[in-house]
Amino acid sequence: MCGIVGYVGPQAAAPIVLQGLRQLEYRGYDSAGLAVIDADGEIAVRREKGKLSGLSNLIDAEPVQGSIGVGHTRWATHGPPSRRNAHPHASPDGDLVVVQNGIVENFLDLRTRLQAQGYHFDSDTDTEVIVHLIHHYYGNGCHGDLAASVRRALRDLKGPSAVVVLSKNWPDRLIAARLGNAGGVVVGRGEGEMYIASDIPAILRHTREITFLESRQMAVITADGAAYFDLDGRPVAKEPLLIDWNPTAAEKGEYRHFMQKEIFEQGRSLTDTLRGRLNFSTASVELDTLNLPPDAVNKLEKVTIVACGTSYYSALLGKYYIERLARIPVEVDYASEYRYRQPLVTDKQLVVAITQSGETVDTLAALEEARQGGAGTLAIVNAIGSQAARVCDGYLYMQAGPEIGVASTKAFTASVTDLLLLGLYLGQARGTVDEATRKELVHALSTLPGLAGELLDEAFHGRRYQALAEELHGYHNFLYLGRALHYPIAREGALKLKEISYIHAEGYPAGEMKHGPIALIDEQMPTVAIAPRDSIYDKMISQIEQVKARGGLVLAVATAGDEYIQQKADYVLEIPATHELLLPILAVIPLQVFAYEMALRRGADVDQPRNLAKSVTVE
Ligand code: AGP
Repeated sequence: MCGIVGYVGPQAAAPIVLQGLRQLEYRGYDSAGLAVIDADGEIAVRREKGKLSGLSNLIDAEPVQGSIGVGHTRWATHGPPSRRNAHPHASPDGDLVVVQNGIVENFLDLRTRLQAQGYHFDSDTDTEVIVHLIHHYYGNGCHGDLAASVRRALRDLKGPSAVVVLSKNWPDRLIAARLGNAGGVVVGRGEGEMYIASDIPAILRHTREITFLESRQMAVITADGAAYFDLDGRPVAKEPLLIDWNPTAAEKGEYRHFMQKEIFEQGRSLTDTLRGRLNFSTASVELDTLNLPPDAVNKLEKVTIVACGTSYYSALLGKYYIERLARIPVEVDYASEYRYRQPLVTDKQLVVAITQSGETVDTLAALEEARQGGAGTLAIVNAIGSQAARVCDGYLYMQAGPEIGVASTKAFTASVTDLLLLGLYLGQARGTVDEATRKELVHALSTLPGLAGELLDEAFHGRRYQALAEELHGYHNFLYLGRALHYPIAREGALKLKEISYIHAEGYPAGEMKHGPIALIDEQMPTVAIAPRDSIYDKMISQIEQVKARGGLVLAVATAGDEYIQQKADYVLEIPATHELLLPILAVIPLQVFAYEMALRRGADVDQPRNLAKSVTVE
């Protein structure tokens, strides 16, 4: 996905846009650009390949002055990263520019049609068809009405798009429009100035009054405010939200990387995730945003969880929790696969989407499939006010604060915790979890943030992880093994390593190793084994022995003080003891820190790994 920032008001637009783009660079960083209307009333455009620093240097060398502008940081879909493919894209006469997030699925047909009308294309992007369409309708049928031209152009597009348009002929306004689920568009109100962005962190330092643009809506934004319309031009009434995030929450602070900050603040983020949800006097959980009263819970015949990437591995844990505590069958699906298997959806099902960004197109599409089938829908989501939170019947915020690092960490532990809370909630409603279990779990959950904090303090101040990464960063393949509740952690640990250090890693159910992957084991293929003291500990010990018998190195995640495993494994990373259902939430933390340190030693770009983006708004 890409990042968009716009400004209109009395201040210089370029510095505000650039600073906002820096907060969004995690969304895409192939190239960047911005445009302002300068003192001569012309549109000045600056674009540069590569990271935002390149654009910033270009603007230092070739400054632009103007108090209305729009900028974009790109994650390439059509056309390689380059200056010519960077946004904004301009109309032939330079009278208007467009930035876009999303994808024009029918761009080839439109490009051919526009070329036949005499339009010349400077870029390989799909976005360029949008600016030429607007330009065409502006002079053909829309009689110089910019908003009408944008609406008319969007009617020709297939696929999700969020666009922002700037025109020299309408120098007092920005026009934003959203079509489908192409990543968020938020409008921020200041004092005599207005902001627009793809995500809240870009403008949070300027305003907390945020309005979310929904699909098939348009905003006409001037310094005095914003007017909202549907794509037929009818006015739409919209209420702003007051965002209570601390602006510095989206800053790195004293940390070296966002990912490092987000790993090491999990003691606090887990506190926030649990805040207001544990009732100690009744030993129960209280989740008042689910929109799922007990009678609705008791009608449920099945729960399906849909998600992508790290959120999918969280979903795998959700299956264990809900089946164990609420005794309801749970299916887990990759969101990108769900709708293609023509699922049997009924109104006696609950479809749960897990999504940090709330904007992942595959996950939103799966939700639409579920909604059309009549199922109840629930989003476990981190981004406040995001599309997933708005389209579902109910939601459960992860309450982890903004997660900027592309590799998800605190959102994972928050979503797993939310799923445990959901399992307890469903079990309470169905009477399938007894009071003793509820008391045990509510108490264990209340200690979770403290245990995570202790674990993280030791990791941050010790040298254990740095020394381990020093020894192991030269290997090119890793196998991660976990069983039962720790199989999803094996999968997530492997993803963390591969997506930020580019080392190949596979997560596998430990019991499956002897059915194939054991052939891979030798001195060049270290194995990470998640083996805390739990009900299947002995099974994991025998897995470790099978690896050692074939000359493989073993890094074990183990319960603190477990001396036996110290004899079996080559390296041990310790986690505190806790309730068995909470062990996975702690077990993932050493794997996050390990992946981070390995990536550092390999000189990888931890916060912005190659080819990735924080939220994927293309299918
Ligand atoms: C996780 O580290 C990755 N960045 C990626 O797999 C991510 O979890 C996936 O794209 C889903 O994103 P979402 O949770 O925002 O839907």
